[in-house]
Order: sequence, then C-alpha cells, then structure tokens
Amino acid sequence: MKKVLVTGGLGFIGSHTVVELQNKGFEVVIVDDLSNSSIEVIEGITAITNQKPIFEKLDLKNKSAVAQFFRAHKDISGVIHFAASKAVGESVNNPLLYYENNLNTLIYMMKEVLNLNTQNFIFSSSCTVYGQADEMPITENAPVKPAESPYGNTKQIGEEIIRDVCNVEPHLKVIALRYFNPIGAHSTAKIGELPIGIPQNLVPFITQTAAGLRDCLSVFGDDYPTPDGTCLRDYIHVVDLAKAHVVALQRLLDNKQESNFETFNIGTGVGSSVFDVIKSFERVSGKSLNYKIAPRRKGDVISAYADTKKANSVLGWKAKSTLDDAMSSAWNWEKTIRNL
Ligand code: WQD
Repeated sequence: MKKVLVTGGLGFIGSHTVVELQNKGFEVVIVDDLSNSSIEVIEGITAITNQKPIFEKLDLKNKSAVAQFFRAHKDISGVIHFAASKAVGESVNNPLLYYENNLNTLIYMMKEVLNLNTQNFIFSSSCTVYGQADEMPITENAPVKPAESPYGNTKQIGEEIIRDVCNVEPHLKVIALRYFNPIGAHSTAKIGELPIGIPQNLVPFITQTAAGLRDCLSVFGDDYPTPDGTCLRDYIHVVDLAKAHVVALQRLLDNKQESNFETFNIGTGVGSSVFDVIKSFERVSGKSLNYKIAPRRKGDVISAYADTKKANSVLGWKAKSTLDDAMSSAWNWEKTIRNL
C-alpha cells in the first residue's frame, strides 16, 4: 500500500479526500493541529471506509516537530497539503496569523518533502488567486491579479514559492489544484462541513437557517451586474473535489506530468447565483428559506466560475454532481448532525 500524508486531513475537504484515497487503496496518515477540526472526524472516516487512518496531532508551525514527523515517516509516497487557515474575512483582520500559518508551514513542508525518495506534492490552492477575472469562464492562463485578501495572497505566494522551488529541484513534482466553491457532504452523512461559530460561507449558513440555528440568511447584494443581480460562483460537490486530488496524485505517481509544476481549475464549469443556490435548496428540501437582501460584502468578486477543459482533458477528471445533488447532501448532513 502506498502511504500518503494528508495535512489538515480532519478538515472539510481533507476528510473527504482521505475517504477517496482509502477507497483507492492508499494508506493514509493524517496530521492536523485540530485548530479548525475535531478528532471525531476520524470516526466518521472509519465508519465510511472501515479503515482507520493513522493520525498524529501536529502543529506545522513547529519546524522541529515537522522534521521529527518526517524522520519517522520516510516511506511517504505523496503529500496532499490542505492545512491552512481559510476564512477570507478573518484574514483581513489578522493577516500575520495567515502569513505565518499558511506560508511558514508550506516552507517547512517543502523542506521535508525534498528529503523524501519520491517528492510528490499536491497543493491546495484557490480560485481566489484570479481576483475578479476579466473573462468567464476562468482558465488557468487567466492573469493572477492582486489578491482581494491576505488569505488569497497566501495562495498566490504559496504557488510562487512552489514554482521557484520546482525550478531548481528536478525530482520535485507538484500539482496545484485551484478550488472554486466546495459545498455538500458525503452521501453517508458521516462527514461534512463543520463551520465553527457563525458560518462565513453561503451553503452552511443556508442549512443552519433551515435547521433553525440562524434566523435569516442575508443575501449580500442583489444589485450586481449579473442576470439576477446576485454574485455568480462555481459550487462544486466536495466529493467531486476530493476525487480530483486522488486523480492528481495518481498522475504524479505515474509520472504523467508535462512539467514538474502544473495547475488545474477544479470546478463544475457552471456559474450559479446566490438565488440559484437558494432555489436549489428549496427544491431539494421542500422548505422555504427565510432570507433578506443586505448590503454587498466587501471583497466579494462579482463572478467566478471555472473553465474545466484542462482538468477534463489533461487531468482526466470531471465533476459529476449537480448543484441539487450537492445541496441535497448538505441538507442531509445538517439534519443528521442536528438530529432533525
Ligand atoms: C459565496 C456567495 C457571497 C454568505 C469561498 C471561500 C474561499 C474560496 C472560494 C477556497 C458570495 C454570498 C455568502 C452569506 C451571501 N475557496 N453570501 N450570504 O466568498 O466565494 O469564497 O470560496 O479557497 O476560501 O471562502 O464563498 O460562500 O462566502 O460566498 O449572500 O451569508 O454567497 O456574497 O456571493 P466565497 P461564500
């Protein structure tokens, strides 16, 4: 069994990726500092695959602890690096936390990966590197624009760090996956999104409102230059996104890369508005959602959805789930964790 290290593997995307890796026969080692995840997620993963992943609590900001971990795991075949802070709004108020937690940890990880026999690295990047792209759908060649937040900047700088290292390390092979908007939950409802506190993102706020935890959803602006006035995003089922990581890792293991640093947009290719998402939720749940129109949120781009041709043809991956599938799984998850 090839051993794969998944950092942040108890998080939303990480946990779903661990399940898909185990489904494909990989042995998974998870490191997580539990700052934005809970240890119970291990039970959820194990309940789905009947394979308990190896877990070590590890703060990747601790350089010596990272080095010690890798000394004990020299047989790692690949690394999927999710561990990072990811709340756009929080990053504006606390930039140094984001630069330290997202970049120092990447540097320590890269240094250790270079000591491995096989240097395969999947980087969790983001469509936020494009800022407000000029053309829709967004291709991987779209210009990287000044980040709208320190969070987005850490993804841009992270890709630049990796690119510079790949230029001088011929054995290092990296794929950066630029996610659009991950939503939904595993069909078993044993793992899903667990936002801490008031959800920043649209879909968990919708399901928590429907579950009675929130009074009313605020729609941040309906006066944008879009068909219905609300912002457009590419909402991708988290399981489709998880599967993209396994396909990307296999590409590295099979040495199929065209260069030692590749980037792929991972989305559905469909732009959905906030009202589209609300209507999808109401369709799949049979519930009427309580929402109101509120002022625009600072930092929101008007539109962001992926051109998926490269991921489809070069990576050999395509999203399969629809918005309704994803919203149905999100609602199923919310009802399960709230015992509704
Ligand atoms: C989506 C739309 C809001 C909440 C996220 C991640 C970011 C990146 C991309 C990975 C926007 C509107 C939201 C609410 C609303 N992913 N909204 N009311 O901002 O696109 O970014 O995906 O890197 O890390 O944060 O996602 O879900 O916050 O917003 O009207 O209560 O929903 O204005 O148009 P966003 P989001």
